[in-house]
Amino acid sequence: MTTRNRVLIVHGVNLGMLGRRPAEIYGGITFDQLEQRIAVFAHELNLEPRFFQTNHEGALVEHLHRADDRADAIVINPGAWTHYAWSIRDALEIAALPTVEVHLSDVDAREEFRRISVIRDLCVETVKGEGVEGYRTALTRIKKELEL
Ligand code: DQA
Repeated sequence: MTTRNRVLIVHGVNLGMLGRRPAEIYGGITFDQLEQRIAVFAHELNLEPRFFQTNHEGALVEHLHRADDRADAIVINPGAWTHYAWSIRDALEIAALPTVEVHLSDVDAREEFRRISVIRDLCVETVKGEGVEGYRTALTRIKKELEL
């Protein structure tokens, strides 16, 4: 039997601009550095990470349509799409893979509009406000979900 350990790490709109976004909210890390840290966390947990970032909602929807071919689980930080993109929610439902939602910042302690997540109830867990370490928390939860 093949190991079910492939995790799709998805970043949505504007997350590729980390490093140019407010450091007091998101930390000073660049997006490349973030992906490198996540890869280390994943390998420490014997998970195989696959990365995808886009600023195009339709591109993310189509990527999620094919997610079950290339992944066993999803870790997703949709950025601002979290708060209003019903198309991303529906695509996640279609993907039907165990999913953890991650936010670098504590979205519940910021502006009112960030308290809404249209994907939260589809996710096995939401991790927020832990910065980069939140991805380790998310991957640990995925590992448990995949019974690895
Ligand atoms: C974010 C929080 C969102 O509200 C925001 O739009 C982002 C990043 C986070 O990681 O804290 O782009 O998802």
